[in-house]
Amino acid sequence: MKITVSAPGKVTLFGEHAVVYGKPALVSAIDRRLYVCMEERNDSCVKVSALDLEITGLVLTFKEGFKEYVVETDCDRIVEAMGYVRKAIEITSKHLDRKKGVNVSITSEMPVGAGLGTSAAIAVSTVAAYAKLAGHELKLEEIASLAHATELEVQGAASPMDTTISTFGGTIYLKPGKPKPHLENLNLEKALPIVVGHTEREARTGEILKRVRALRKACPRAVDSAMKTIGAIVEEAKPALVKGDFAALGMLMNMNHGQLEALGVSTRLLNDMVYSARSAGALGSKLTGAGGGGCVIALCPGKVKEVSVAMKVVGGMPFEASLSGCGVRIESMEP
Ligand code: PMV
Repeated sequence: MKITVSAPGKVTLFGEHAVVYGKPALVSAIDRRLYVCMEERNDSCVKVSALDLEITGLVLTFKEGFKEYVVETDCDRIVEAMGYVRKAIEITSKHLDRKKGVNVSITSEMPVGAGLGTSAAIAVSTVAAYAKLAGHELKLEEIASLAHATELEVQGAASPMDTTISTFGGTIYLKPGKPKPHLENLNLEKALPIVVGHTEREARTGEILKRVRALRKACPRAVDSAMKTIGAIVEEAKPALVKGDFAALGMLMNMNHGQLEALGVSTRLLNDMVYSARSAGALGSKLTGAGGGGCVIALCPGKVKEVSVAMKVVGGMPFEASLSGCGVRIESMEP
């Protein structure tokens, strides 16, 4: 049997990082998806291929007489992506008490490891595909929870935000909590005109989370105060988001970016994109995701073209993103 499952990427509209410390967040699925195709094998091996995921940089060293060569690539991100597949399969097979060999291939409509929740989309799609191949129909809550356990194991720390939004889709207000997070599905009165700007990432999510943890250890009151402010920004942004009050949302995005900058997770290039977007007419802009490079979002009603050009000029790669209601789904199944 062969199955293809897809799950969406996301933009964190408000609240990244603080959500790891129990504060609420507002997050939306986007219309860019990641696909996991899984096929049963006759043995117990797991083979993962991700041939279309971008790999930056290639160094080829020819050895004496050009008879042999060594290829070096900056493939850490790809290896990391594979790590989520491996862990998701391990955790799901333990949960179902079923073990199967599978061939897995991953394709993505968005940059991987760039702050758009691709690791969560990989975990979610892998859990759903593996369970289906093993003959089980998991509830969405179960998929989200197994995918979150996967992220926790691979990264060491993770809020349930990315795996929740990738599973359910839509726009969600989420507050972490035990035994499960508090979720509110929000119906937006107006579509959000958003441009996403992408840059290479200097560090991965797990490393950035470690840096924030270290900063909190060094200056707990200051960091906790920034987290609390981010929580307050999220609460104020929630009604503005539902009503489509773009002016208020823009101001709050700018404030949220300021707090993330204070936590040390922005970079020169992210800031360049954030500020050039505002100069080009965006009502608000902020980094989205863990930071350390990756992506920014800009709210730009009537200024999508201008903001995209401004981001390009400073070295970013912009694309227009629509928010999407659709979470994890089966794309195809062959016997
Ligand atoms: O950059 P991403 O897509 O991995 O997003 C991370 C979001 C954080 O809030 C920084 C971490 C988390 O687990 O919520």
